[in-house]
Formats: sequence, C-alpha cells, structure tokens
Amino acid sequence: MAGLSVNVDHVATIREARRINEPDPVTAAAMSELAGADGIIVHLREDRRHIKDRDLWLLKETIKTKLNLEMASTEEMVKIALEVKPHMVTLVPEKREELTTEGGLDLIANKERVTESVALLREGGILASLFIDPDIDQIKTAHRVSADFVEVHTGRFCDAEDRVEEEKELERIITSVRMASKLRLGVNAGHGLNYQNIKRLLGVNEIEEFSIGHSIISRAVFVGLDQAVREMIALIRCETIRPLNT
Ligand code: PXP
Repeated sequence: MAGLSVNVDHVATIREARRINEPDPVTAAAMSELAGADGIIVHLREDRRHIKDRDLWLLKETIKTKLNLEMASTEEMVKIALEVKPHMVTLVPEKREELTTEGGLDLIANKERVTESVALLREGGILASLFIDPDIDQIKTAHRVSADFVEVHTGRFCDAEDRVEEEKELERIITSVRMASKLRLGVNAGHGLNYQNIKRLLGVNEIEEFSIGHSIISRAVFVGLDQAVREMIALIRCETIRPLNT
C-alpha cells in the first residue's frame, strides 16, 4: 500500500503573504505527522519565496518521519542538502517566473549536472530522487545516472481535459512506473493530485508514495489539517473515515 508525504510549502506561502511568523510550516509538518503522514516535503526555492532555510533546519530537527527536500540541481542547493541531510532529495526543474513546478526534469538535456548532483547526494548518505515526466527514456536515464528513486509527474494526468486524454496519461504513468520498478528504481508520484483524481492511481502498485500539497492544504482551510490529512490517507488505504464532528 502506498504512503503519503505531505508538502507544506503552501503554509509558508500564506505566512509570506504577510512576512510574519504564522502560519508555521513546521507546525503543519508536526500536525501532518500526528494525523498519520509518512513523510514531509518542502521545496527550498532559489528565491526562497515560501520555504526558508530556517524552516528546513527546524524540520530536520523536529520531524519524526522522513524529510524529502525538493530543490534545483545547483551547487548552492546541493551544498545545503549535504549540510541538512534530509532523508531524500528530489531534484526538480526550477524557473523563477513559474507559480509551481512545471513539468519534469529533462534528464537527457541535463544529464551531466544531474549525474554530478546525484553522486554527491548519494555519497552524503541522502537518497536521490528525480522528478520526471512519465516517459520511458527519462526513466531509463534516471537509472543510468544512478538515482535511487523517481517521482513521476502526474500533472498532465490530473489536468487532462477529457476521459480520452486522461486514459492516455494514465497509460503513460503505468508504463513508466513499471519500467522504473523493473530497473529497481523506487517510485513516488505527485503533482496535481486531489481527493478525486488519486482514486485512479490507487491500483498502480508500483507507486510507493504520493507527494501531495495543494489539495490537502486547500481542504485544511475548511476542515482542519488533521482531518484533511486523515481523509487523504483513508482514500489511499481505501478505508472509510469517520466524518468530522461525529
Ligand atoms: N511533487 C513535486 C516535485 C512538486 O514540485 C510539487 C509541488 O510543490 C508536488 C509534488 C505537490 O504538488 P501539489 O501541490 O499539486 O500536490
């Protein structure tokens, strides 16, 4: 059964709307863990628009599960990762002008730089994961650069405009994760997943963990973070959950 790692970047985004000290993503991480999350994810962006270095250090010190650090494959970020030593680093493409990560990392175009980052991270005892599109050539390249994990980008599946496109994207995901698993890569999946569309991925047994942020934090605004995380875990485990206030 797949696990759930909760991305708490959006809590920091709300904090940065006022540039004060609340709400704190570190508190959100602790609450997510208490609700049963298997891990916590943050993206330390080069412009520090939401998560700050302080958050990263405090998370490393306080969380009880696993810390997955999303970051660009740059010298500055690799240096920080080697100091903080999260459980896993997920290398992602990063553009300053984007609202959120757009598309997976192009491993073929960036092979040299990614190979070097993966080697440094692994030498430092950190699991190296690569956020890539569900594409066989990208998966094979992830294997060639000695990554431990891939995180398959589910954005196109989630944004599909009709059933035909959704089926096509689902098929790409299934083919890719099967290839990754065959190559003994660990498999995570994420981006754009919510309480509805995740149901179609639950039968894809190769996926070890889902990485979810926006939909959980959005629901938390209305039902509270504890309930929002519990509901997502129940969905992933195909369990029923006691409704709020009963
Ligand atoms: N995985 C990666 C690599 C991401 O960049 C993000 C967004 O920060 C997510 C997963 C989570 O996506 P969402 O917020 O749409 O659930």
